[in-house]
Amino acid sequence: MRILVTEPLPGKGIDLLSSRYDTTVGERGEFDGEEHLKNEIGSYDALLSCLSNPVTADVLRSAPQLRIVSNYAVGYNNIDIETARELGILVANTPDVLTEATADCAFALLLSVARRLREAEDHLRAGKFDGWHPFGFLGTELHGKKAGILGMGRIGRAFARRARGFGMTVLYHNRNRLDTKTETSLQAQYVESIDQLAEQSDVLSLHCPLNDETRHAVNSERLGRMKPDAIVINTSRGPVIDESALADALHQKQIGGAGLDVFEEEPRVHPSLADAPNCVLLPHIGSATGQTRARMSALAASSIISHLEGKPDHAIPSL
Ligand code: DGY
Repeated sequence: MRILVTEPLPGKGIDLLSSRYDTTVGERGEFDGEEHLKNEIGSYDALLSCLSNPVTADVLRSAPQLRIVSNYAVGYNNIDIETARELGILVANTPDVLTEATADCAFALLLSVARRLREAEDHLRAGKFDGWHPFGFLGTELHGKKAGILGMGRIGRAFARRARGFGMTVLYHNRNRLDTKTETSLQAQYVESIDQLAEQSDVLSLHCPLNDETRHAVNSERLGRMKPDAIVINTSRGPVIDESALADALHQKQIGGAGLDVFEEEPRVHPSLADAPNCVLLPHIGSATGQTRARMSALAASSIISHLEGKPDHAIPSL
């Protein structure tokens, strides 16, 4: 069996594969273009891909032996799922193992925007700190505010628990409403539409997958419905927000701030976001802890092993 891992990964995933199969590991960024992946994939039985690798219909059709694509991410919008299904290629992802790290990152962005941490630190590092100031960097508190969560899957729920811990009221919208027991345990209130969520929330945090329904869910119309001091947080996928509309809303002080870990055309960052007021930008590090990335690599590898060895399910190998 031949396995292609598109680039080096933390943890033991690659060792798990190379101890069993003929495993090739690409270089950092080598397979971020479709053409190269298409030209190379032909002789492989399994692909361990990253979210930056475009696993398109053309790529999949160039891989007659391919049996599984195991994506080193929970999101899988880089893979043409329909074509994979049609060709009988299994697609696996890495759910669960990155939930807490990603929710931490979303909350870190929220605190950073609410308390203007980036601006305040820049001020200090620029040598401008001249002592305590009654008006210095006045932010906003989270306690008593409404956290609106779009997408109440694993990461949305982990964000909800954090928000409750900070004394916030939790509202959410999801394609399917949660059962009453789960809503009660999360102390989360369902709202019928994204419009209502936008109107009622002080913080709108995005935790939905990217699909036709969620693309540009945050657009100029919805930004126009938000409270003037509302904060938008995105650790899901960039295209859930219309970046140009968000940049305009921030520059026009139509909303209070934004914290973004993901962008519409990564690694490009919309130029008017870069100089927008009260906007914190991170280079897609939601799941970036050593522990989480190691668990992701073990899980992505074990999905391949289980599938190639015909096992119906698998346990994550102990790290
Ligand atoms: C994911 O797993 O989808 C994350 O975006 C990776 O950090």
